[in-house]
Amino acid sequence: MSHYWHLEAGIKQRLNFNKIIAMQTLKDQGKKAAGYAAAALVEDDMHVGLGTGTTAAFFIEHLAERCRKGLKILAFSSSEKSLQLAVQGKIPTGDINQLTTLDFTADGADEIDRQFRMIKGGGGALLREKIIASMSKEMVIIIDNHKLVERLGKFPLPVEITQFGWKATCNQLQNLNFFGKLREKSDKSLFITDNGNYIYDITFPSPISDPEPIDKLLKDIPGVMETGFFFNLAKKVLIGYPDGKVDVRQRHEHAK
Ligand code: 5RP
Repeated sequence: MSHYWHLEAGIKQRLNFNKIIAMQTLKDQGKKAAGYAAAALVEDDMHVGLGTGTTAAFFIEHLAERCRKGLKILAFSSSEKSLQLAVQGKIPTGDINQLTTLDFTADGADEIDRQFRMIKGGGGALLREKIIASMSKEMVIIIDNHKLVERLGKFPLPVEITQFGWKATCNQLQNLNFFGKLREKSDKSLFITDNGNYIYDITFPSPISDPEPIDKLLKDIPGVMETGFFFNLAKKVLIGYPDGKVDVRQRHEHAK
C-alpha cells in the first residue's frame, strides 16, 4: 500500500515538475517575443538604455545580433549583469555620466497594471533601472502576458536600503506595518545590489489599491534608497505571447 502511495506521489510530483517547466518555457517564449520586438524598434545613432532581467536579456540578445549586422548605437546598462551581456554581445557601451538623456530604453517588470504602474526590482536592479528609465525619452516595458495585473502587490515589493543602519531601517519599516525580509542569495548570504545596498522585500497581505502614498511613506524612511514602485515612466508596453505574437499598448496621459 505505502509502496504504491509513494509511487503515485512520485509520479504526481514529476507531472507537476513537468507542468512548471512547460509553463516556464511558455513564459520564456513570450519574453523573447517582447524583447526581440523592442530591439527591432532601435535605430542608428541612438543612446540605448538596457534593462535587467530575463526579458531584458532577450532584448540585449537581439540588439547584439542587429549590431553585428551594422546597427550603430551606444548602450548604457542598468546593472553589471546586463553590462556583461552587452560586452559579450559586442554592443558598444558608454559611461552613463557622459550624458543626461537616453533615446530609448527597454526593461522588464514584475507586475504592471492598467495605468502602467509597476513593481520592478525582482532582479535587484531597481535603483539603476529607475535612473535609466527617468533619463529615457522613450521607455518601453517588455513583458510576457502573465505580468499584467488588475492591482499591484502580489509580487513582493523590493525596497533598496543602505547596509549602514539596516536594522533600524527594517525596524522603522515594520513599525509602519511593512513586513517582509532581507533578500538572500541561494547560499543564504545576503543579496547585495550593484550599489552595495541590501534589498528588503515587502509582502503585502492583499492587493494594493493606492500605491502612491505607500511609496511616499517608504521613501520618507532614512536608509531607504529606492522602492520598486515605478510610476509615470512607461508610455508603451510590449506584451509577448507564447505563439510569438506581441501586443502593443500605449498609455494615455489621463488613463485611470
Ligand atoms: C530587475 C527587474 C526586472 O525587470 C523584473 O524583475 C522582471 O524580470 P524578468 O524579465 O526576468 O521577469 O526589475 O530588477
